[in-house]
Amino acid sequence: MTISFIGKVAIVTGAGNGLGRSHALALAARGAKVVVNDLGGARDGSGASSQASQDVVRLIEQNGGEAISHGANVANFDEVQDMVNQAMEKWGRVDILINNAGILRDKSFAKMSLADFTMVMDVHVIGSVNCTKAVWDIMRAQNYGRIVMTTSSSGMYGNFGQANYGAAKMAVLGLMNTLSIEGAKNNIRINALAPTAGTRMTEDLMPENIVKAFAPEAVTAGLLTLCDDDAPTRFILCAGAGGYSSASMFETQGCFIPQSSQTPESVRGQWSQLTDEAGQAALSAGSKQGEKFVSKAMAYMKSQQQV
Ligand code: NAI
Repeated sequence: MTISFIGKVAIVTGAGNGLGRSHALALAARGAKVVVNDLGGARDGSGASSQASQDVVRLIEQNGGEAISHGANVANFDEVQDMVNQAMEKWGRVDILINNAGILRDKSFAKMSLADFTMVMDVHVIGSVNCTKAVWDIMRAQNYGRIVMTTSSSGMYGNFGQANYGAAKMAVLGLMNTLSIEGAKNNIRINALAPTAGTRMTEDLMPENIVKAFAPEAVTAGLLTLCDDDAPTRFILCAGAGGYSSASMFETQGCFIPQSSQTPESVRGQWSQLTDEAGQAALSAGSKQGEKFVSKAMAYMKSQQQV
């Protein structure tokens, strides 16, 4: 079935360039009214300009769509609140939030200043928190919401020189996990996108012909599946250059060691069972880990009573 966003209102942060721009144009092309947010700074987050977001709004309008621009710095809650208020005044609802805005301040951890660490956390993590918080009660009242966090392979797997960025990109997955649980009863679905695209963020990291293969539009095709009525929840979609995959965190069944022998040596002695991937599972909530351990302990106690 064709994916349509007619009647929906979407906010896309960092939509003046790269992936956000592509997401905003595609949402609008399929009928969404779009808030094109962008602070308009440089790749490292310095400076500000409304030029890029206004250009995207003009393009949407030329194509017959509806959009407004807003220059909120996502790391500033008051500015984000003002953006959401403007969307509500104009269109009366917010259905979709794409937390996309991001910056890079790469350096090896030895050379990274704490200010560079904090700045990256502020934009990616607090920015996603601020925007989500500002739309949360609206989505709860509507009993409808689709939110996408933008993560990264760097957060899931690590990358030299990206301690700040990797930590931030993993943090938004933690945010997704809990919010997907809390939002479920109000039909708010939270997913994550792990993109690879040729944008100003990556242009000096990829050869020119590769940049072309990694068009943002290929990522956006996947993004749209995370924000329509039939979207999954708590799904990590990886996308780049026409490749699409999903990522998950699994936990092994592990081992059980009775209280009388709980020493580091016996834990090390059980390493092969502790890491055995047979029967490993993705847990649906943190409490499931405790339940697994309790059931192992209970099974042991029962076996002792039978002896
Ligand atoms: P980009 O640099 O082309 O676009 C990011 C946009 O965010 C810019 O227009 C910038 O002005 C805006 N922005 C930055 N700080 C902001 C703030 N405080 N408030 C509002 N807007 C702000 O980068 P790209 O590649 O399009 O990245 C988009 C997202 O995808 C980012 O979250 C990035 O970390 C993520 N990502 C990108 C990858 C890639 O291969 N391009 C790989 C993995 C993740």
